[in-house]
Amino acid sequence: MKGIILAGGTGSRLYPTTLTVCKQLLPIYDKPMIYYPLSVLILAGITEILIIVRPEDLSLFRRVLSDGSQWGISISYIEQSTPKGLPHAYVLGEEFLEGGSSILILGDNFFYAQNLQDTIQHAIKIHDGGTIFSYPVGDPKRYGVLVLDQYGDPVDVVEKPQDYISNLAIPGLYIFDEQVIEITRQLKPSHRGETEITDIIRYYMDRKNLQVTPFGRGTAWFDSGTSESLLQASQFVHTIQSRQGLVIACLEEIAYRQGLIDKKMVIRQAKMYKNSDYGRYLEDIVKTLS
Ligand code: DAU
Repeated sequence: MKGIILAGGTGSRLYPTTLTVCKQLLPIYDKPMIYYPLSVLILAGITEILIIVRPEDLSLFRRVLSDGSQWGISISYIEQSTPKGLPHAYVLGEEFLEGGSSILILGDNFFYAQNLQDTIQHAIKIHDGGTIFSYPVGDPKRYGVLVLDQYGDPVDVVEKPQDYISNLAIPGLYIFDEQVIEITRQLKPSHRGETEITDIIRYYMDRKNLQVTPFGRGTAWFDSGTSESLLQASQFVHTIQSRQGLVIACLEEIAYRQGLIDKKMVIRQAKMYKNSDYGRYLEDIVKTLS
């Protein structure tokens, strides 16, 4: 299975400015936001990744992430000149996907849970048709929202409902089979002028071909699309890291443990980032690697 990260859009909801900041390269505490969704895909076992970016950000992304070989993965890029909606990822990614299933993650979504790797790997393994995740939130109006019946089966899905229908938000992590390309072709833009991911989800739901994996209480999920959630995510990372002395989304550590890179590569990366906390952490873990 291949992975796509959607990292277009702008940071216009983060700052009162007409300068369009590329928010996915802003830091969540001590590393760029894009490291977090990237870490989720690598943990899930995905090694071929397409990142969708705005044309003006392409060179920046290449400088920050390069071709992924430093983490033993392959990263390619494609430009999205205007934000046409999340499903547009499948139009842009059609060639890359080569008719296979895929996992899509939004570039501003942050996940942290003890069993995250197992949960996502299991979802990929049993996946058939479409798979989404659910997460209870206090402010469902901000998200795509899912309604389950008494048996736990999905019966309704609405993008940013104005009136309360359920507290189950749909995080920006989606697994779809090859049908998604054809489904996307048939979508009509919503009143927001964009195609909606909830329409793809509805297609699978109506055909009883949608699995829903709940993220439990022990999971932290943030969509860092607002100043408040960006700060919350940074504070969360800082709290966990300083308490445990372990770094969240350290790509070299994850890649090493996944058997994607060797110790030499970790040492090389540690040298490159030696003046930052991230680099010092890498220097420390090198000592523990066999
Ligand atoms: O975070 C989860 C939510 O993400 C879901 O619950 C919603 O169903 C889903 O529509 C989405 O809602 P948002 O309002 O957060 O989507 P937003 O327009 O902010 O886009 C999310 C990310 O995708 C953001 O990093 C920008 C990027 N993006 C978005 C669009 C529409 C693109 O790269 N291209 C696009 O065309």
